[in-house]
Amino acid sequence: MNKKLLFAMQHQIKEEYLNAFAYLDMANQVMKMGYFGYAKWLFSQYREEIDHAEKTIDFLMNRHAEIDVRSLRINFSFETYTNPLEVAKAAFKNECLVTSLISKTYEIAAEVKDFQAVDLYDWFIAEQTEEEKSTRQLVKRLTNSNNWVMIDQELGKRDFNDEK
Ligand SMILES: [Fe+2]
Ligand SMILES: [Fe+2]
Repeated sequence: MNKKLLFAMQHQIKEEYLNAFAYLDMANQVMKMGYFGYAKWLFSQYREEIDHAEKTIDFLMNRHAEIDVRSLRINFSFETYTNPLEVAKAAFKNECLVTSLISKTYEIAAEVKDFQAVDLYDWFIAEQTEEEKSTRQLVKRLTNSNNWVMIDQELGKRDFNDEK
């Protein structure tokens, strides 16, 4: 497998884990604020990000590409949020960052003509459209309404198992 592509894919795995822990941190913080539905929603996001990391790991293992596991060590810096809207804004920003990273990885896959990797990143590109959409909508809803308790209740209805 192309070294430059492998390096970029490992970087993506790491970013997915970083995003997972960012969501876990957010889930804990909104829970402390008393928004339990929102916490559950963010915890589902955490699990999705873990799934994303594992999706790329699975692909690399199927290709017999050696993963530098030690390079995946995470240096996570904690953020402090004061309200649910700040959390949503940070989540949206993180998703946009991941989209640009995934686009770059896609570009490398196409450049080195690894069409199996292109196929994998086709999936990720579509997924990022969904991720940006859901976090952007959350920012809008929390901006447009002061009734955060109602929004919290709605977010609590999300069931991760239904999404599999
Ligand atoms: Fe992701
Ligand atoms: Fe995501």
